[in-house]
Amino acid sequence: MTEQQSIRMERVCYSIGGRTILSDFDMALEQGINRTILGVSGSGKTTILKLLLGLLQPQSGKIFIGDLEITGRAESEYREQRKKIAIVFQGGALFDSMTVGENVGYRLLEDGKLSETKIEEIVREKLRFVGVETALDLYPAELSGGMKKRVAIARALAADPEYIFFDEPTTGLDPIGVYNIVSLMQRLQEAGKTTLMVTHDLTTAFATSQQFSLLHESKLAFEGTAEELKACSLATVREFLQPTEASLFI
Ligand SMILES: Nc1ncnc2c1ncn2[C@@H]1O[C@H](COP(=O)(O)OP(=O)(O)OP(=O)(O)O)[C@@H](O)[C@H]1O
Ligand SMILES: [Mg+2]
Repeated sequence: MTEQQSIRMERVCYSIGGRTILSDFDMALEQGINRTILGVSGSGKTTILKLLLGLLQPQSGKIFIGDLEITGRAESEYREQRKKIAIVFQGGALFDSMTVGENVGYRLLEDGKLSETKIEEIVREKLRFVGVETALDLYPAELSGGMKKRVAIARALAADPEYIFFDEPTTGLDPIGVYNIVSLMQRLQEAGKTTLMVTHDLTTAFATSQQFSLLHESKLAFEGTAEELKACSLATVREFLQPTEASLFI
């Protein structure tokens, strides 16, 4: 895999409010190889995604989208590269005052490059892909949690990204909702998209990813395949995969 086709962070350090969130953290997302970053709540998973998108700046280390180092650059300097990536935020982050259709199409409308007819066509196609076309004219408040997540995915797909970041896409969903998201992610992968997910949901991670990183106490505690993760004897990894009673109330 060439550097041109990857998104990566090298020896990234990030701290906020006097607390170290990431220290010398390395991660590479290669095109066609789907990755999950695992970590407990509050460990810094969302922070990693924000750093990769340039929404946060690390104190040290480098972040690349393809050949371009984005660290320290203004977004306007890497807009073309940034457009290859879409994110489905934790909780969906839909605009409550907009209909589902407007939520999915607003970025395209803002870009001003396509006609309204074309945008409506794309919006319908993306909503059909995620299975909520009938919700086109509803408002987010009228949707179930699972539907909201699917609309958020449709919105991420509107600009036809190559890479899609998912921030805990299955948290709070019932088993059918989880199944829907997993099969959606698998269909996206079959359609040639590369996914990067952050989660603590192991079932979803194993169903959708080939590569795994485990973030523990600001460090990369593990990196490898599902088989390697399952076979790993490191105490940190074992504890994450099978929490013991002693670890439940710390
Ligand atoms: N603006 C801020 N000021 C101080 N601390 C912050 C700020 N933003 C985030 N943090 C802290 O940074 C840590 C990492 O946050 P982050 O949201 O990346 O965790 P996470 O792994 O995504 O958690 P969760 O699984 O709950 O979503 C958390 O402990 C959080 O309290
Ligand atoms: Mg988070």
